[in-house]
Amino acid sequence: MKISFAAPRLPKSGTIVVFAAEGRKLSPTGKALDKTSGGALTRAMGSSRFTGRALETLAVLAPAKLGGASVLLVGSGKSDDEPGCWQNRGGTILAQLNAAGEKSAAVAVDQPGKSESRVAAELAFGARLRAYRFDKYRTKEKPEQKPTLDELVFLVTDQAGAKRDFAPLEKVAAGVCFTRDIVSEPANVIYPESLAKRALGLRELGVEVEVLDEKMMAALGMNALLGVAQGSAKPPRLLVMQWKGNPNARNKAPIAFVGKGVTFDTGGISIKPADHMWDMKWDMGGAGVVIGLMMALAGRKAKVNVVGIGGLVENMPDGNAQRPGDIVKSMSGQTIEVLNTDAEGRLVLADALWYCQDRFKPRLMVDLATLTGAIIIALGKENAGLFSNNDKLASQLVAAGQATGEKLWRLPLGEAYDKMMDSDTADIKNISGNREAGSITAATFIERFVNKLPWAHIDIAGTTWSSKDTPIVPKGATAFGLRLLERFVADNYED
Ligand code: BES
Ligand code: MN
Ligand code: ZN
Repeated sequence: MKISFAAPRLPKSGTIVVFAAEGRKLSPTGKALDKTSGGALTRAMGSSRFTGRALETLAVLAPAKLGGASVLLVGSGKSDDEPGCWQNRGGTILAQLNAAGEKSAAVAVDQPGKSESRVAAELAFGARLRAYRFDKYRTKEKPEQKPTLDELVFLVTDQAGAKRDFAPLEKVAAGVCFTRDIVSEPANVIYPESLAKRALGLRELGVEVEVLDEKMMAALGMNALLGVAQGSAKPPRLLVMQWKGNPNARNKAPIAFVGKGVTFDTGGISIKPADHMWDMKWDMGGAGVVIGLMMALAGRKAKVNVVGIGGLVENMPDGNAQRPGDIVKSMSGQTIEVLNTDAEGRLVLADALWYCQDRFKPRLMVDLATLTGAIIIALGKENAGLFSNNDKLASQLVAAGQATGEKLWRLPLGEAYDKMMDSDTADIKNISGNREAGSITAATFIERFVNKLPWAHIDIAGTTWSSKDTPIVPKGATAFGLRLLERFVADNYED
């Protein structure tokens, strides 16, 4: 779908989208169209439930004297703008136009008193995000099942300003779509090697990409990660990406993002039930977000030094697979008793986080992982779980979550939980042995592999995949965490 910005004009055909605020208050363009059509919009609103509340829509088909053009009224609610409200409107408009079978449409962005270029850019960003589809394997889709809209024009007086405001957002959208693609791909297509290969494409944007193979990881002593991979025919990879967008920074220490990249999680010998095991193709959602985030930051040339790491493994049960009770020595030197091979994400992160802090000495680390089913029990799918050893870092992340609609809810860590992970035979065990506080004990496990630097862990098991459409996130892979972390970087760490 093509998105463009053009000077305000009234179209002769197709659909024109206009806003109406709560109380059926039409925008200036809406008023003009209402007048031209002899009050058709006012009559349509009056004979429907449409009052202009946020995200309400009302299609007025081919009213008189508009030369065959139709009007889509979109509610803009009360005039105080909540974070993300224009993105949500853009997404809703896109979905409505596709549902109506429109091929092209123009959106009148007149919002007196607001930065119209900003509003236009946000609307376009929302439309772009909602337009995402993963349809490459659907070879028999009928034309009427396919989205129709191929051109969306935003009518705005300051087109140069709108383009300038949209440019970085378009790069973020590209990162989001890339993440959604790799998370949506099945595990016969995306496995450690092929995922690393896709990330190599980021070199074109100026990202330094290295891929460590199992020999290199063995030499580093990453036996926690390697133990997870050993039951799979697909060898593991450690993906290391660096974006050096601020080479002159006084504080050159980068900020680091680390993602769980389990390309398929059968549970290993502690095998999962068959029902919904297919969901575990998206157990690499954390690494997927880290890759897309690097793409977004490099794409918009963010003035910041960032490291992105993905621990890429497949968790399978074969004759060589890790057994419950096995003890492995992690890169940190700590020994781990693997009581449950399905608690594999924390094993991967233990080595990936250790490697990250050991090599890069980052000023902070944030990891993302589809780590526990328990986080879905605790928070459902509306919030991801946040854990941190640092209040400032936690509050920066919570604020970025509020601003982007990718909400985080902080849960506690602490000594009492930490004790639950002590093993009788090794330094630590990978499950506590009971079902209490499952997400917290998982986070506590990871914390043992983090030295004294600000660190946060985000459990995205409930938010990486969505079973319903929301205004800017079609159902399926969400890329949850990417827009949040992009905002976190922009608001706090860019010069
Ligand atoms: N990848 C899963 C967590 C998960 C479950 C993500 C459901 C998304 C949806 C993780 O590796 C896992 O299996 N965790 C176990 C931990 C348990 C063995 C302590 C879990 O949550 O059941
Ligand atoms: Mn698992
Ligand atoms: Zn897993």
